[in-house]
This record gives sequence, C-alpha cells and structure tokens, in this order.
Amino acid sequence: MGDMSREAAEAAIDVLLQERREFPPPAEFVSQAVVSDPGVYDQAEADLDGFWLEKTRSLLDWFQEPTTGLEWDPPHCTWFADGVLNVSHNCLDRHVAAGRGGKVAYQFVPEPVDEEERAITYAELLADVCRMANALRGLGVGKGDVVGIYMGMVPELPVAMLACARIGAPHVVVFGGFSAESLGERLESTGARVLITQDEAWRKGAGVPLKTTADEAAKLAPSVESMVVLRRTGADVPMQEGRDHWWHDLVPGQADTCEPERVEAEHMLYALHTSGTTAKPKAAVHTSGGYLTYVALTHRWIFDIHDDDVWWCAADIGWVTGHSYIVYGPLTNGATGILYEGDPMFPGPERHWQIIEQHKVTQYYTAPTLIRAFIKSGPDIPERHDLTSLRLLGTVGEPINPEAWVWYWKYIGGERCPVVDTWWQTETGGILISPLPAIVTQKPGSATRPFPGIAASVVDDQGKAVEPGKGGYLVITRPWPGMFRTLYRDDERYVSNYFARFDERTYFPGDGSRQDEDGDFWLLGRVDDVMNVSGHRLSTIELESTLVEHPAVAEAAATAAPDSFTGQTPLCFVLLRAGYEPSDELAAELREWIGQKIGKIARPKAVIIADDLPKTRSGKIMRRLLKDIAEGHELGDTTTLRDPAVVDDLKRRADEVLAASR
Ligand code: WTA
Repeated sequence: MGDMSREAAEAAIDVLLQERREFPPPAEFVSQAVVSDPGVYDQAEADLDGFWLEKTRSLLDWFQEPTTGLEWDPPHCTWFADGVLNVSHNCLDRHVAAGRGGKVAYQFVPEPVDEEERAITYAELLADVCRMANALRGLGVGKGDVVGIYMGMVPELPVAMLACARIGAPHVVVFGGFSAESLGERLESTGARVLITQDEAWRKGAGVPLKTTADEAAKLAPSVESMVVLRRTGADVPMQEGRDHWWHDLVPGQADTCEPERVEAEHMLYALHTSGTTAKPKAAVHTSGGYLTYVALTHRWIFDIHDDDVWWCAADIGWVTGHSYIVYGPLTNGATGILYEGDPMFPGPERHWQIIEQHKVTQYYTAPTLIRAFIKSGPDIPERHDLTSLRLLGTVGEPINPEAWVWYWKYIGGERCPVVDTWWQTETGGILISPLPAIVTQKPGSATRPFPGIAASVVDDQGKAVEPGKGGYLVITRPWPGMFRTLYRDDERYVSNYFARFDERTYFPGDGSRQDEDGDFWLLGRVDDVMNVSGHRLSTIELESTLVEHPAVAEAAATAAPDSFTGQTPLCFVLLRAGYEPSDELAAELREWIGQKIGKIARPKAVIIADDLPKTRSGKIMRRLLKDIAEGHELGDTTTLRDPAVVDDLKRRADEVLAASR
C-alpha cells in the first residue's frame, strides 16, 4: 500500500490492469499487404517534409504541385502551402479520366428491405456532383460561402459535399439526429447561406422529419437564404415559396460538367462540430491539400485497401469518421464502398452480416458501442452468415475493452483478420494512432503505435514524459497534414483549448493514455473521466473492461460518486448479455469481481444492473450525466441524448444506493 501511494503521486493516472494477449500480423495477410516494410516509420522520421511531399505527389493530382511541406508557426501550421488543387477533381474526375469511370464508388443499401439497392459508378457520381455544383452556383454560392447540410445516409449526401468542394464552398454537415436548436446554432454560428436537406430520413422503419426540423432551425439562422430539399420518403412537407427548392426540380436539368474551382492547399474544405458535449459546440476547420493527403494515406495503409476491395465504414457521414473514411479518403483512393442508409439493428441484428455476406465486404470499420450491442445479441447471429470475405476489421470512437476486441476478432473476423483499433478525433482529421496491420503486433485494448510521421507521447502535469507503464496525458508534439487549422471564427479558443495546457508546440487532445514497455499506447478515455479514490487516480475504462470480462456483462459504464471516507468511490452501471437475469446476488458478485481483479481500492460502491445507458447520438456513453447522477445533482442538458428517459430511472436507483453514504 505504501509503495502504491508513492507511485500514485508520481503518475498522473494509476494503471492497475495489464492485458497481455498479443496478435502478430497473420503471415497470409502480410504477404498481400499494401505496406509491410517496417522502414516506413524511420523514413517519415528521417525526413518528414520529404515523406509527405512524396506521398502527396503520388496520392493526389495537383494543378500546381507543392514545393513546401510543413510551415509551422506554433500553434498554427500550413502544409503544401504553394500547391493548387481541387478536392472533388481528386475524388472523381481523375479516376474517370484514367478509365475507371465504370467502377462502383458507392453500393447504396437503403434501409427499407424491399427497396432496390443502387450501385453508383465514379462516372455517375461525377455527373451528379457537377449538376449539383451548377445548381449551387445558380443559387449564388461561390468560393468561400458556407453551405449547411442536414441529411440522412443517402448518396445525395456525398454528392452535396463534393459539389461544395467542387466550387470551393466549405460545407458544415450536421448529423441528422440533432435537434432544431442544435442545427440552428451550428448554421447561425457558421453563417451558412444555403441548407441542403431532405423531407425525411429512414430510421428503424420510421421517417425522421428533417425538413420540418430544418424549418425550425432556419428561424434561428437568418443567414440561410435558400434550402434544397431531396425527396426521400415522400412525406408531405411544407415548402416556403422563394426560399425552398426541390432537389428534383433544381438539379437534374443542370449541365453534367462543371469546371472545378482551383483552390490553394490551405483553402477551407469544411468545418465540423466536435461530438463533445460542451455547451458551446466547437467547429474544427479542415483545409484541402493536407487533409486529403492524410485521409488518403491513412485509409490505404491502415485498412490495407486494394483495387478490388469492398470497403465498409459503418459510421454516419454526419461525424468525422464518415467525412474522412466514407467520403474523402476512399474516393481519393478510387475505392468501392458500402453506403448503408439505416439503423444497424433494422429490421434485426443480422442486417450488417447480411450486407457483408451479400456484397463480399473485405474491410469493416465500426465503433465499440455497436460491437457491444452485437455481443449483447449473441454470437449465433453472425455465425449464421458467411463472413469469410472479410480480411480486416477496425474500430474507432472509444477505448475498446479487451474482451470486446477478442469477441470481434473471433466471431466477426473468424480468428483470421487483423483488428485495427484506431485512435483519432474530429480535430485530428484522420487516424493518428493505430497498428499498420501487416507490421505491428495487435494487442486487445491498445491502439498501439503512432502513424508514420506522428509524434506522440504521454506526459505528467508538468509536461514531463512519464515512464513506461505509467498513466498520463496524451500529447502530440508536432503537426501533421490532416490536423485542424483552427476553430471556425474562434481562433482564441483553438489556442486556449488545445495549446495552453502545456505549450504552443504541444497539442493536447484531452485523453489519458499510457505506453507499455514496447512503446504501445493504451488509451484511457477523456482525462475528465478519471476518478480519485483514496489518492489513487483510476481510469473508468479499466473498471469497465473488468466488468465486461465477466460472462454476464455485455456493457459497462463507470463513474465516481462522492464519498465522505475515500473522497470518491466508483459507481458502475452494467447491461447484461442475453440469457442473464438481473438480481441483487449478481450485482454483489460483480462488485466483488472488480475487487478481485483490480484490487479492493477499485471495488465500487455499487453495481447497478440497468436496462439501458445514456448515450450521445454518436454512441458514446454520456459521462457527464452519469457523473450528475452519481453526485446527486440535477441532471444537466439531456438534449443530445438518444433516449432521455433512460437517465431518470438510473438516477432513482443510484439515489437509493448512495443515500447512506452521502
Ligand atoms: C475517443 C472520432 C480510445 C477519444 C474519430 C477521442 C478513442 C474522442 C478512440 C474523439 C480509440 C476515439 N480508443 N478512444 N480508438 N477513438 N476515441 O471527435 O476520447 O467523435 O478524444 O472522433 O473519441 O471523438 P470524435
């Protein structure tokens, strides 16, 4: 105990769990891999500018090739500043010009099972984008004008984004699950002039009313002069004379060619609000040349993209994962991708496996939250499908519990596919920490190594590197091409939020991490998710991973409750796997389980067996609310929750268990 508290004083976050399983790249995978030379790490390190200039020239088609790489005026930077290009030209025209116009860009799978799928080729996508670009120009949109997009997962969404890119108009995509107020604020603060939306989006067999929500939002955003409305479900929606245009009236008659705007490398491609739950949303600004280079290379190398692959990133385009790995990365690489419109559990939990089987998907990329939902519904569902086309699996969005990683590897990957755990953020534009699947040994729960050229480390409060095995703050110590350049119209906050914690050369993403003896990174969640029990700083992810190792537990969330004796005490919530019934005995057993596996210090006040957990619309557990519950506060803003009713029940039950110790 004495030793432990001395260590605790030195380390920023205590690390009590040690996962030891290792999965080296399978030989068969290595022999066919796009990149299998470990020398790529040293190459990037030896000559960073040279590495990236060579990559951008080989991956992109520049109208004027850049001669400079990084120019760094901390905390700001530019990449390839003297280059001139167009993003949509790189995603479309050059593939068509090279004779690949007949290749499928998107295999669109509608949510309604009785509706026909659509295969959209690069040539068709180019023509659609040109028509939409011409329509936008007709509405007076020009280079630098912001366009808002509020749509479901339909092919017209990437068409709209690429049309903006074609004419140099930055887009602001707002996820279709957001409320009128959230949408209005995002449009107003970015000064969007046009809003592209649809009547309704399909979700779990019902229509989500996007157009009426957009109407409400527009009242809060006077900058919006016009709306373009796609008819999707056919619902009857009000159209405002003079402001609103049906897509089918405005777009099809336009010319199917459109001269792409030649923009400088640092021209703003888009702003996207971070998924964080802070009161005032932050809009990360991404620019053209560096971003496109970065997403193209990370997509190709990390996911091992070959010409005949069928790639599926199962995220929503409304989040950065969709921007980078459904739209810009894959299209730059000329890949074929699945675009699935609907809910992963509609009409049942087998939907994704059916799609993989039918289209012979080769790489599948999703989030831990969905993997946990699949675990909950049981392995017999994927086992009924032929998933042998899969060659690689990926995850993103949260730390993945080792048990969930191994389940994914076993039941979805057939013990055959590398699993890449990819760490990144809206701000980083693309993946920063992930295995290169043919080079780096995978470890369940670890995102392993920084991508070539990325400089990451783990530091303490003073910014001093911590020893291997010790927890601390993750920092990135030099720029990379895909990095956000600022926060839209709020550069001051860019500096104070991300570069003031240490110094202006050190990007602080807000996550805790540790490095093991091999130098591999283990992400510990947001640093605000750390609790202090009798002087020990415990990371919630460790408690959660331990609970998920218990056979009865499908999903777990840990938070801290105030405790008059120990300062804080863990409080855990769990969802059970199919076949297990809630009982007081099981709750007590789970509490002891943590005591045994991690140590008495981590034994929670209580484990509450719940029916559901509060999640944001992007599937992240909403820790701020769990904290409110545990601290006995009035519940904060619940508007970004998927199902606000969930928290009331949890609060009632937590109040019962905690009453005694408050
Ligand atoms: C978390 C999503 C652990 C992290 C691309 C980060 C992860 C935040 C991982 C960004 C991972 C994302 N392991 N944590 N592989 N990937 N995160 O902006 O806390 O929606 O800061 O971007 O998600 O979320 P965002």
